[in-house]
Amino acid sequence: MKTNISMHSQLMDLLRAYWNIAINCLQWGDTGKGKFVDLITYWADVIVRGRGGANAGHSVLLGDEEYVFHLIPSSILHDIDGKVSIIGNGVAVDPRILCDELALLKAKNQSYNNFMLALNAKLTLPTQIVRDRIVDKAGGKVVIGTTGRGIGPTYSDHALRIGLEINDLLNPDILAKNVRNNVTYSLKVLQGYDPEIIKDVMHHEHLSRGLYYHPKKIFDVDSIITRYLQFGEELAEFIQDTDSFVQAAVGRRKILLEGSQGALLDVDNGTRPYVTGTSTIVDGLAIGAGFNLHKHHVDLALGVVKFPYMTRVGSGPFPTEFGDRMSEEWCRDATQEKDLEQFATASTNDINEFSQGGAIRRLGREFGATTRRPRRTGWLDLPLLRYAMRWGSENVILTKPDVLDTCEQIKICTSYIYDGPDYRVGTRVLTKGTSLREATPMACVLEHCKPVYEILPGWQRSIRGIRHFQDLPPQLISVLNFVGAEAGIKPKMISVGPAAEETIIV
Ligand code: IMP
Repeated sequence: MKTNISMHSQLMDLLRAYWNIAINCLQWGDTGKGKFVDLITYWADVIVRGRGGANAGHSVLLGDEEYVFHLIPSSILHDIDGKVSIIGNGVAVDPRILCDELALLKAKNQSYNNFMLALNAKLTLPTQIVRDRIVDKAGGKVVIGTTGRGIGPTYSDHALRIGLEINDLLNPDILAKNVRNNVTYSLKVLQGYDPEIIKDVMHHEHLSRGLYYHPKKIFDVDSIITRYLQFGEELAEFIQDTDSFVQAAVGRRKILLEGSQGALLDVDNGTRPYVTGTSTIVDGLAIGAGFNLHKHHVDLALGVVKFPYMTRVGSGPFPTEFGDRMSEEWCRDATQEKDLEQFATASTNDINEFSQGGAIRRLGREFGATTRRPRRTGWLDLPLLRYAMRWGSENVILTKPDVLDTCEQIKICTSYIYDGPDYRVGTRVLTKGTSLREATPMACVLEHCKPVYEILPGWQRSIRGIRHFQDLPPQLISVLNFVGAEAGIKPKMISVGPAAEETIIV
């Protein structure tokens, strides 16, 4: 990786005092965390993913080609330097995807000798992928807009005590018993759904194109068990008690905890019900990586914030969205190709916000790494950021301001005016006209929140060549100061372009 030497040494100076660093996103994911995970990997000895699953995606350069990896941490590229890459206990693992990623590394002669897979990570089954894909589109209507990777059902089955763990792959009798148990439950869930739709879904590539389909029984249990035992053989050498490894490493080796998704998608504290199936805040990440929070703590939590615009994929309220409902519907149905064609000449200063949002999507390359879906775009929302910071820290990494280099005006949402029916939130009653400085994360409140904006002048010049904070345009510094004063963030790094060297250490 090409880095700017002075930036790199400033970064190492910034991190020197720490042992355990976590990076996670303070929005709805997709904030460009991967670049910083890569940069901080130079500092780390052990890199652990603690949550999420194949719903995430990061690009990895193997030889001259770029690939999207969903499960293996990108630190695997530093395996040769002895860095340990771990998939921790909190991750939902689809073994088909993991085995494909390992096969690709092997084909590219990329070593993965120090890779470890938690024996108690959650094992995703075909039954869970089918349920995710069918139940989220009940009646042909998208409910949450999941990534269709079986994430929600993997975690819900875990909570129902009918989920499997990676270690089951190593024990044929237990695997068979637990798969059968899960199939029995899954068939009950699928009762009432159109058998033709189930058949179609089971022929999806993520379900090995019908390998697990049985025309009478829906699930071919024997073929699931046989295939999963093969996965077990392929993965056996990596399956370990990573919790014990991580706990022994604390205080002896530098540990980087790599988050997934974002705080606003956290199952407990996010903008429910439009969230993912697991805890994505920093404490959830640390537990999923193997930390015992009573004894070990994260010394530096870096929250990644896209700035000063933001994005969301899937359904759910987004008060500052450019083009409101029109944008939500467009992004739900459009493909990347169709979107790029529609907004090919749109401008970031278009008075039509829907087009302005499309231009920002094009310039920011805002398309899902996992699903290729166009991401919904909107202005930075401080009520949501203030809320997310309850679960994170004020130390932030700001990403992608360069995408707005041509904007004449920057709008920052400072508060909301509630515009819905009377709604009780604990002892408080929201009525039309109530002003909210911090977001209430319930979807039924957020969908009635109208943003109040502060309008600031844009900087209208390229910032991509800038490497020192003091050289940033004064207008951008004013926006930073404004947001710093309003939301209490303390930027530690600012990304001014996708490349590693396009980074300012503050
Ligand atoms: P699931 O995680 O596939 O169950 O999807 C639940 C919600 O989280 C949907 O709105 C997804 O679009 C969103 N989501 C899941 N993973 C990501 C991610 O990596 N980035 C952004 N959104 C995500």
